[in-house]
Amino acid sequence: MDKLRITGGRPLEGEVRISGAKNAALPIMCAALLSAEPLRLSNVPRLMDVATMAKLLGQMGVEVRRDSPGEIFLQAKSIADPTAPYELVKTMRASVLVLGPLLARCGQARVSLPGGCAIGARPVDQHVKGLQAMGATIALEHGYMTARAERLRGARIVMDLVTVTGTENLMLAAALAEGTTMLENAAREPEVVDLARCLTAMGAKIEGAGSGTIRIDGVRSLSGAAFRVMPDRIETGTFLAAAATAGGKVRLTAVAPDSLDATLEKLREAGASIKTGKDEIAIEAAGRPAAVSVRTAPYPGFPTDMQAQFMALATVARGTAVITETIFENRMMHALELQRLGANITMQGTSAVVTGVDRLQGAKVMATDLRASGPTCALRPGW
Ligand code: EPZ
Repeated sequence: MDKLRITGGRPLEGEVRISGAKNAALPIMCAALLSAEPLRLSNVPRLMDVATMAKLLGQMGVEVRRDSPGEIFLQAKSIADPTAPYELVKTMRASVLVLGPLLARCGQARVSLPGGCAIGARPVDQHVKGLQAMGATIALEHGYMTARAERLRGARIVMDLVTVTGTENLMLAAALAEGTTMLENAAREPEVVDLARCLTAMGAKIEGAGSGTIRIDGVRSLSGAAFRVMPDRIETGTFLAAAATAGGKVRLTAVAPDSLDATLEKLREAGASIKTGKDEIAIEAAGRPAAVSVRTAPYPGFPTDMQAQFMALATVARGTAVITETIFENRMMHALELQRLGANITMQGTSAVVTGVDRLQGAKVMATDLRASGPTCALRPGW
């Protein structure tokens, strides 16, 4: 979709059923590489990245079938070509998640380096360091990581920083490694836990997912499984932030409220009234929100994938908010686009100081990254 034309200026009303989580579905699809038996996934979101991952796995020889909406059948009876080509990897960085499982299953992999992206350099040194600690040799040739390992061995890996896909890649690799792997300073994101749940359903031995230390006792082989992908907490948070920004009454279903603590807390601070049930959230917001400052951090801290949405909220809030990004070095481009709508934003290093204005005007703006595109839809131009 090249462009969206949005006429703002009125509160949001209605009910939305939330999709499965993109950032859980992608690593979980890669788990299919670890077994010769079928992996049946449900609640899979209908997204370009999911289609790209299906294409990437299909090119390797994995049988991929979409039996019905939200369901994917994957079976890697054999892996003909353990390669992730640049043409696909450049469109979706998460392709790097095939590196660990290919090495564990086939003893070799050739994966294009993802390169940088709009929000930062995003190196994969922690993925490489962890796999090397498990006995892999990884060479960089013509922009590709060429990796080899007789059989990966368990290792104690202390990651220099918290990385979500780094933790997932190493967990996937360790599931079939010889012996025990300890991942220290591991990411605690709910998507990491969802992957661990799926691997456990396939017969993997994993403890501690969701904490900073994950223990994986490698097994010889994994079976198939049927697994339901968790709800998307960022999609949920984006709809809630839109309602808190534009005002209104919105009910979200098929959600996981307990994966959104930091976001819900900030929305309540902004003055929204929020009710949560087992798998639903209802929000009501009237009048201008209160200014709320946020500082992004690894889970359970405030998610970087919600930063742009809260900057948008701050542009029409009562008072001044400071929005600080600590995860990605270049994830403030949307501030310039918001200024085009008449927002009052001053950049100070990795922080944006946003003083709410009474009124914004419609203008042509650019979606600088996936998470920056959502918020501009909810603003109240010309109210
Ligand atoms: C995941 O990216 C998500 N993507 C991102 O969502 C999300 O923003 C990010 O985690 C943080 O929550 C998927 O799950 C597919 P990181 P990931 O490795 O794993 C540095 C979206 O909008 N780093 O946790 O790539 C890195 O540069 C996307 O859905 C290294 O230096 O993020 C960053 O500054 C955007 N070396 C920081 O760590 C490494 O080897 C955290 O990145 C790995 C990471």
